[in-house]
Amino acid sequence: MKQKRDLLDIRDLNETEIYRIFEKAKLFKYERKKGIIHQDVLNKKCIGLLFRKPSSRTRVSFEVAIIELGGSPVFLDASKLQISRGETIQDTAKTLNLYLGGLVIRTYEQSEVETFAQYIDSPVINALTDFSHPCQILADFFTIWEKKKNLKDVVITYIGDANNVCNTLIFGADILGVRINVSCPAKYTVSKKIIESMKNPSLLKISEDPYAFISESDVIYTDTWVSMGDESEKQVREEIFRPYQVNEKLVKNAPPDFLFMHCLPAHRGQEVTDEIIDGKNSVVWQQAENRLHVQKAILYLLYNS
Ligand code: CP
Ligand code: NVA
Repeated sequence: MKQKRDLLDIRDLNETEIYRIFEKAKLFKYERKKGIIHQDVLNKKCIGLLFRKPSSRTRVSFEVAIIELGGSPVFLDASKLQISRGETIQDTAKTLNLYLGGLVIRTYEQSEVETFAQYIDSPVINALTDFSHPCQILADFFTIWEKKKNLKDVVITYIGDANNVCNTLIFGADILGVRINVSCPAKYTVSKKIIESMKNPSLLKISEDPYAFISESDVIYTDTWVSMGDESEKQVREEIFRPYQVNEKLVKNAPPDFLFMHCLPAHRGQEVTDEIIDGKNSVVWQQAENRLHVQKAILYLLYNS
């Protein structure tokens, strides 16, 4: 019997598969603009979307991707399921397995998506955990690839909280051989576990100085200072991260054609100013659009290979 495949962590993919996703996403993007869609990819499968956290981009782009590939999305608000009243993950997973042909999950613990994957016989996809956000980062590397062509020549600088987005950028860079810098306060720096698990740790440089890597940055990426689940630390985080705001002054010595990236939602006036996110270097809307095309390519890979 063919083994099912999950996407729980970007490291579930190798470099060749990531480029296969990029090529397929490029084709899906082109074909969608021509009105061509592929209903045979999911062939009437019902795919659950179980969300324990809010979402605008991930949920809608997955629902549209599933519909355009011939499947039916089934949105599952976790607060309305029996897991919210104490039913175990295992029993929930075994139940969903009886009805669904796949599951997309957004939750807190990475171990929860792993448990779902263990009890579900069809593909399980991580739609964000506290640890990782693989679909986002695949769309981001695809966006950089579209803009800059050769990823091996690119230097990415992530500024701010070393969170799920930052972890996954580091792992993605490690797989693809891309140089990555992180500027972040010591209290919220990249964990030792992340660095130790890199295949090529020399790709990563870390500094507490938000200006340290600006002049060598082809991409400047930031994300919220207060991720979903971190709300109790809001005040202290907003204080500590203030020097890491991406604004005109910070990017003054960046290469003129640097790309500004943000996974969104943005907190304008906090991690980024209006001038930067709405400015000529910003590619945030291309990133958001590419979520759709890349997730279609991910579904294609998981269901058709
Ligand atoms: N970037 C991202 O995952 O956005 P949503 O939280 O809106 O899904
Ligand atoms: N780091 C953010 C990403 C949101 C898409 C969070 O986890 O809330």
